[in-house]
Amino acid sequence: MLDPTGQLHRQPHLDRFRLETTADGSQTFFSSEFNQLFHSHFGAHQEADAKFVQVTRLAKRAARRSHLTLIDICYGLGYNTAAALTAIWQANPQCRVHWYGLEADRDVPRAAIAANLLNPWPDTVRQMLTDLADAETLDRDTIQARLLIGDARQTITQLCRAHIQADAIFLDPFAPPDCPQLWSVEFLTNVARCLASDGYLATYSCAAAVRSALIAAGLQIGSTPPIGRNTHGTAARWTPDSLTPLDRRAREHLHTRAAVPYRDPDGTDTADSPPPPPPRGTGAIAPRTHNPLEKTLATAARCPCDR
Ligand SMILES: C[S@@+](CC[C@H](N)C(=O)[O-])C[C@H]1O[C@@H](n2cnc3c(N)ncnc32)[C@H](O)[C@@H]1O
Repeated sequence: MLDPTGQLHRQPHLDRFRLETTADGSQTFFSSEFNQLFHSHFGAHQEADAKFVQVTRLAKRAARRSHLTLIDICYGLGYNTAAALTAIWQANPQCRVHWYGLEADRDVPRAAIAANLLNPWPDTVRQMLTDLADAETLDRDTIQARLLIGDARQTITQLCRAHIQADAIFLDPFAPPDCPQLWSVEFLTNVARCLASDGYLATYSCAAAVRSALIAAGLQIGSTPPIGRNTHGTAARWTPDSLTPLDRRAREHLHTRAAVPYRDPDGTDTADSPPPPPPRGTGAIAPRTHNPLEKTLATAARCPCDR
């Protein structure tokens, strides 16, 4: 962008994100804060489509529905939503979408647009998401959208209070070891409260601790197809129908220490929070966890599905 004197005007938010090309040729950002890509290195576009849009069966349901409600947790560059809106309106151009996006950093979608990363999607979708990144709200005939900027642990409670019931929820935080606060039983219980009785939740993660937290939130879980040589993702619903059962190895994994879910009772814990103090007067060494069946956010372990 040129300023009135003809000088290149630097866009500071762009400097924070390094562009990387993934195996399907699509680009994504690398986050130096979380030290990982925003999408799978096997393919950013492929991941949006295969692990989120197809798993939540949006095109099929759009074809027979006049409206759909969608929650995109960790909106980021907007790829999952761009792929979802494209699929919905290809199936039914009249389908009205009620959309809620949760994102901590408003610079991410703005930087994606400034880098032309939404160009591969249809012009109507790209233009809507450009307006959304700018105004954080959108009211059109086919879409009502609200981008809620802040910690998703807080913004999800707004959706719970408003009794939003989503047909599809995309759960796409950074990997559990780097962002455990968005994979805790407490957070996922609030997320589950926003899932309609026949809705689908999709995530790229197959971590046992994530799957057990979804089960603790009351949901049934299934596995979703891998992309590239990557691991399977996870789908969750209130009922097991239409879910692909986990294979024997994944089921056994749910009975190991790796499956102990993260706990964040106050919704304020961080990955590097100190462990809780020992009981008074015992002189005991503080345990890393509140109780042997719970993990604090500081105890996250890596899984092959992490990016
Ligand atoms: C893996 S990226 C999401 C990619 C995105 N779904 C897409 O399709 O482009 C994770 C996103 O989570 C956001 N994030 C990190 N911590 C968060 C928090 N506590 N609450 C809400 N968003 C958060 C980051 O800013 C980042 O944009």
